Amino acid sequence: VANSPIIIVDSSVGLVRLLGAVHEIWYFEQALAHLLSGWVPKLREYDQKKACADFVFRSASTAQNLERSLGAFESAMALRHRVPTDWVMAMEGLDRSASTDVLFESLLVDLQPHLDDCYRLALSLADEVLHESLVGALLAGHRTLEARNLRLSKWLPAGPHRDRLVHAFGGRNDGSSSAAQILWNPVDRVPTPARPIGTKQQVDGSMRPLPLDGLRDPAGIGLVLHNNINGEYTTLELMLRCRYEHPNMPAAFHADLARHAADEARHAQALERMAERLGVRYGEHPVFVSTYELNYQFEPCAAGSPDELLWRLLLRATVQEGESLDDLAYQARKRNYLGQDDMADMFTAILADEIFHVRSGLKWSRYLCGQLDRDEVQERALANEWYNNSVLLRRVAFVRANPDIAMHERDYAMRRQAYQQAAGIHLPFDMEFNQATREFAGFSPSDIDQARHWGELRR
Ligand SMILES: [Fe+2]
Ligand SMILES: [Fe+2]
Repeated sequence: VANSPIIIVDSSVGLVRLLGAVHEIWYFEQALAHLLSGWVPKLREYDQKKACADFVFRSASTAQNLERSLGAFESAMALRHRVPTDWVMAMEGLDRSASTDVLFESLLVDLQPHLDDCYRLALSLADEVLHESLVGALLAGHRTLEARNLRLSKWLPAGPHRDRLVHAFGGRNDGSSSAAQILWNPVDRVPTPARPIGTKQQVDGSMRPLPLDGLRDPAGIGLVLHNNINGEYTTLELMLRCRYEHPNMPAAFHADLARHAADEARHAQALERMAERLGVRYGEHPVFVSTYELNYQFEPCAAGSPDELLWRLLLRATVQEGESLDDLAYQARKRNYLGQDDMADMFTAILADEIFHVRSGLKWSRYLCGQLDRDEVQERALANEWYNNSVLLRRVAFVRANPDIAMHERDYAMRRQAYQQAAGIHLPFDMEFNQATREFAGFSPSDIDQARHWGELRR
């Protein structure tokens, strides 16, 4: 091409084959991250949710690293890779699996071996000296693939699996039928996340269980941690659905939300580990999913719309996770004061991650406000009002339907207060508005005024 500004380099057959394999890995890792993002809330088991959130993050990172190298080579060579329609159709077909077992079996029997072949080919053709960053990304991706294999075989019911469909992920990479959209649109909506069979779920609108003594009594501390874990799972699930339901948002959005969800999976793990040391297993108290349900859809927003995405991010990542900056700092300070160093360190580490979640929430809600021509502070006020009303309506409906339980809840709250006044530890400080951390996370002065005002209203 005579007028082309790019440098055209003729290259060896080996390099072309290498880049072809890299392109294929790049696509399938990215598509796998997309697919798993959609599935996590539909998986019943907590270890599957946590591991898949981590796989999403790793696959997305591998794809991102490969894309960087691939883009550099493509810009220097007369080489343009396209994603064949067949690949997209194959992955969308997987996404439409009838059950978790069918999905896991297809991943294990078809996708994983195909990806493994591509990795082995690419690694055999790549040169550690010439293609250093490519080799690094390929090795990391291949390690994760092996970790996925272990997990998938553990999750699948024992017994022989079906034979590999040899052409499941075929499709010619010759540009003859290239896909217009490489990540397909969502195949479903998930207004309620799945939980293990037999889970005691908290009734909508009931008060969450609180211990008489959450400061010293191991069982009481265990319950406090248990309450924290609910939010880790529901946030992980909500962020992954945001990622999955909006394939056309920028790549950086998908990267941020993958990291966000993977962090929440680690938080759940850290809290569960600590609770177990105190003899409390997650699920032994009632589990609640309202933070997912109430942040997933809103009557004023069309299902799947950017408005809906904006409200999800504003509410979960800027209002509620913003409040958790205050709360986690208080929890860390409290545990520190009580000499419970392990717990203080845990809450501090979680707080440090939370700053990133809020920053990402602010970044992408501002981006959407720009696209939709909305004022961020006003929009947050509308969303928050709607959310608070929903919580209130759930409570009113509960009290109407269960007057006796509601009375017990009130009695217990009074008993708890009396216990704390008589026998509880007096802490020489209260929860404070964490202005410094909020500023560091990127809240603007008007965001901070708004949050401070809402904080005062709650007292
Ligand atoms: Fe978290
Ligand atoms: Fe978070």
